[in-house]
Amino acid sequence: MTQTGTSERPSRRIIVFDTTLRDGEQSPGASMNAAEKLEVAKALAQLGVDVIEAGFPVASPGDFEAVREIARTVRGPTICALARCRDEDIDRAWEAIRESPSPRIHVFLATSAIHREHKLRMTKEEIIDRAVAGVRRAAHYCPDVEFSPEDAVRTEIDFLCQVVEAAIDAGATTINIPDTVGYATPAQMKHVIETLQMRVPNISRAVISVHCHDDLGLALANSLAAVEAGAGQVECTINGIGERAGNCALEELVMTLRVRHDFYKCHTGIVTQRLVPTSRLVAGITGLHVQRNKAIVGQNAFAHESGIHQDGVLKEPRTYEIMRPEDVGLTQSDLILGKHSGRAALAARARQLGYRLTAEQLDAVFQDFKQLADKKKEIYDGDLIALIEQQMQTVAETYSLEHYEVSTGTGRTPRVRMVLRRGEERVETELSAGDGPVDAVFYAIEKLTGLSVVCKDFHVHSVTVGKDALGEVNVQLEYQGNLYRGRGVSTDSIEASAKAFLNAINRILATAHLPEALPAGEAQQK
Ligand code: KIV
Ligand code: ZN
Repeated sequence: MTQTGTSERPSRRIIVFDTTLRDGEQSPGASMNAAEKLEVAKALAQLGVDVIEAGFPVASPGDFEAVREIARTVRGPTICALARCRDEDIDRAWEAIRESPSPRIHVFLATSAIHREHKLRMTKEEIIDRAVAGVRRAAHYCPDVEFSPEDAVRTEIDFLCQVVEAAIDAGATTINIPDTVGYATPAQMKHVIETLQMRVPNISRAVISVHCHDDLGLALANSLAAVEAGAGQVECTINGIGERAGNCALEELVMTLRVRHDFYKCHTGIVTQRLVPTSRLVAGITGLHVQRNKAIVGQNAFAHESGIHQDGVLKEPRTYEIMRPEDVGLTQSDLILGKHSGRAALAARARQLGYRLTAEQLDAVFQDFKQLADKKKEIYDGDLIALIEQQMQTVAETYSLEHYEVSTGTGRTPRVRMVLRRGEERVETELSAGDGPVDAVFYAIEKLTGLSVVCKDFHVHSVTVGKDALGEVNVQLEYQGNLYRGRGVSTDSIEASAKAFLNAINRILATAHLPEALPAGEAQQK
C-alpha cells in the first residue's frame, strides 16, 4: 500500500491535528489528570501527529499546568492551546505553550446567527472586530495562529467569507471550519470549503482545516469531503472521543487516506502501526471503551466469523481484508504466554504490543502475570494488555486490596469481610452487608476509607475468551459533585469490582481537597 500515487496528481500531505486532550477530554467522564495527559501526549508524538491540542489553559489551573508540562516536555509535534477571543484566555494560552519549540495559539469565536443572537448577543460587526482583536493579540505572541469561526457550517456563507478574510489579514495562519454541532452533510462541507477558496481573496495565505462532530455519524465523511475540496488539515481524536457524540476518529481518517490513496491522493505522517496501541492507551486512561465493531481499532475489526470468509482469508487475506492487521498495530499471534514463560518473553511481548515499560512496571506486571498464570492456563494478548494498563495507571495507590471474603446465597444477605492496606497499615472491617455481593464490597470500602460516594456507572466486560477470562470492571463515582473513574482487572469479577472501586477512591484521594483525618467510619486499624 503505497503513499505516493502513480498518476500525475502529486500526493498531498494532510496535517493531522489531534484534539484528544482538549475536545476529547470534553467527553463526559473522560477527564484526565496531568500525568495521564502527559502520557497521552507522548504517545501522540510517537504516533506522528503534526499538532497536539493540549488543552484550554484558562479553563482551570490543572489544565494550564498540564498544557505547560506538555509544551516543556513533548518534542516533535506543534503544541497548541485553545483560547476564546479574550485577552485573559490568549495571555494564559501563550503562558502555557511558550516553552514549546513549535507553539500554536488557537482562538475561536462563534459566528452563526443563532450563536450571535442568543449566546453572544453581538452584531456581525462586533464579531469581526472581536475576532480580529483576538487573532492580532495571539499573533503578537506567536507566529502560528489558528482561528475557528465556531458553528461555521451554520453561518451565512457571505458572513463566513468576511470573517475568514479579516482573520487572515489579522495574522491567522490556519483557518479551521468547525461543524460544531455535527449538522453538515458531505456535499455541504465540500461546498463550504470550495466557496472559501473561491471567494476569500487572501485564502492562499492560510491552511484550511476542518473540525467535524459526529452527531449524525458523519464526522469522517464530512472531513473527507473537506479534504477532497482542498482542506489541508483535519482535526480529530483517538477513538473519535469528544463532546457529545465525539469528533472524527483519527484512526479512521488516516487509514481511509492510506487505503484509498488511489482516490484521495493524500497521505499523512502517522505511524499507522501505533494506532492500536494508542487507541488502547486512550481507552484505558479515559475509561471510554472502544466498541467491539469499531472500524480499525475495535476488537472485531479483523475477526472473520463466517466460514466462507475464513476460508477466503486463509487462501488469500485480500479476499476479505482491505488492510493488514499489522498495518494498524495488531500483531498476528494471539495465544502467547503460559505459566512457564519468563520475564524476558513477557518484556518482548509487551514491546511487540507497543508498550514501553520501566523496569519497575515490568516487575509489577510480571508478578501479576505469574499470579494470573496460576489461575489461567493460556494468557492472551488481551490479558496481558489489561495487566499492563492496570500497572500504567498513573494514580498514587493510597489504598490497596489485601484480602476479602464474601458469603452469599439464594435468599441470604451478602456479607463481606475485608482488609485493605494503606502504606504500612492494615485496615479491616467487620462484616459488612449489601444488596448484592458487589454492593457489599463497595459499602465495605466506603466504611474503611471513610469516603461516601455515589456510584454513577458500573460495567464489567471480559477482556478475552473462556470461562477463566480476565474480567475488567470500570466504575464512575461521584464525590462532591465531581466524577472519578476507576478500573480493575481480575479473573474474579468481585475482586475486579473491588479494585476498580479502590482505584477511583485513590483517584479522589489524589485530587480532591479532603479533610486530613482519613480513614474514618468503622474501620479498625491494625
Ligand atoms: O466544535 C467546535 O466548534 C470546537 C471549536 C473550539 C473548534 O471545538
Ligand atoms: Zn469541537
